[in-house]
Amino acid sequence: MSSDPFPFSEDITREMLDWTAMRIADGPDPTHGAQAFAALETVLGGSITEDGLGAQRAFELFTDTIVPATRPFGHPTSLSFVAAAPSRAALSFDAALGAAGIFAGNWDGGAGAIHAENQALRWLADLAGWPDSAGGVFVAGGTLGNLSALHAAREWHSRQHNTHARRAILCSSEAHSSIAAVARVMDAELITVPADDTGRMSADAAREALAGNVFAIVANGGATNCGAVDDIGGLAEIADEHGLWLHVDGAYGGAALADPEMRPAFDGIERADSLIVDPHKWLFAPYDSCALIYRDAGHGAAAHGQKAVYLDTVDKTHWNPSDYALHLTRRARGLPLWFSLATHGSRAYSSAIARTREIAAEVAEGIDGLDGLTRLLGPQLTVILFRPDGMSEEDMIGWAEVHRRSGALLCLPTRWRGEMVFRLCFVNPQTNPAQVLGVLNTLCS
Ligand SMILES: Cc1ncc(COP(=O)(O)O)c(C=O)c1O
Repeated sequence: MSSDPFPFSEDITREMLDWTAMRIADGPDPTHGAQAFAALETVLGGSITEDGLGAQRAFELFTDTIVPATRPFGHPTSLSFVAAAPSRAALSFDAALGAAGIFAGNWDGGAGAIHAENQALRWLADLAGWPDSAGGVFVAGGTLGNLSALHAAREWHSRQHNTHARRAILCSSEAHSSIAAVARVMDAELITVPADDTGRMSADAAREALAGNVFAIVANGGATNCGAVDDIGGLAEIADEHGLWLHVDGAYGGAALADPEMRPAFDGIERADSLIVDPHKWLFAPYDSCALIYRDAGHGAAAHGQKAVYLDTVDKTHWNPSDYALHLTRRARGLPLWFSLATHGSRAYSSAIARTREIAAEVAEGIDGLDGLTRLLGPQLTVILFRPDGMSEEDMIGWAEVHRRSGALLCLPTRWRGEMVFRLCFVNPQTNPAQVLGVLNTLCS
């Protein structure tokens, strides 16, 4: 037997696992953040050498330089973009999953993992009210989920209508930027429907904008900038009438399907054709995962299944996740969600999502009570838009920067109807509303 080209001691593995356990217990440090290229290069420059630095030194670079130069989106004070709030169960499991080295592209490579991932997908499909034909796959993120769903939509439409002529996607002016990116990749036209004052696309507005070349409608199941959920039922009606595919982008907001109080906002989703929900957003899973589900999984497979002589041995009678999106090799990235759900139960999920909404409501009420702040919108799901009266754009940016750097709060400006405003988006049930309001109070002095 030839010697191991990569010797590595078990002691070092244990040291790395000790660090992992500590990191999961302590959570991320909110004062961490991006550093300039030059500062990083001073320490990391030359780390790839012919003879290697040794594991101890390389891992030290990770813990002492690389991690501190990353933004801690998983911290409860992180309220910009759509942050993350992975449960300790999901994070711990993800470390174990990495060690298991599972190929989850096809059943032969990952049967057990795929079976469990499919249970997590089924949980979501049940929340949407979808039949047994539903199924899909976990992909890396919402962008890839939207692309895979919309490619399946166009293929389905072409088969259905025996034409390749229809090349437009209809979506709200509040649709996530990934929809425009997907349209560019697919060389499809994008028809954007003006959203109403709350950022919601109504069925009437969609009907008015509908053109003859549309093959799919994208409904927001929680718009990123304002939290709006479109009129999914009304859009399903239009899709039915015109033989179109209805895709729901619930990358952020789809998690709220698990909150019985919010479920009615999604009425009509049972008639949609595809749905994405990112567990790394509001379903307490680590990066990176997007649950992509088709109401009829066969439409996904018809669009994405790859064929080649070297794939002929793949058993087509089983569930092969590679068939349901634009990918082949994949890790079982849906398993941390499965593990956390299996550990804590779906009731804990419903409660955590409902608690996050309560936190948003408490902060909204608090904003109303602060002189000098005007709440413009929300909470819609868990997004709030507000404005500090009379503050210049430059001062708003400066204020956000000070509190980001100190680790007190990540609250960045966005724009609403052209005006710079602050946006808060809650996905963490451990965010402390009083602490958030304490920081917002500094806008009033
Ligand atoms: C509604 C919505 N769709 C799609 C995406 C893209 O998801 P990802 O960043 O996982 O690609 C996002 C990201 O924030 C989103 O909020």
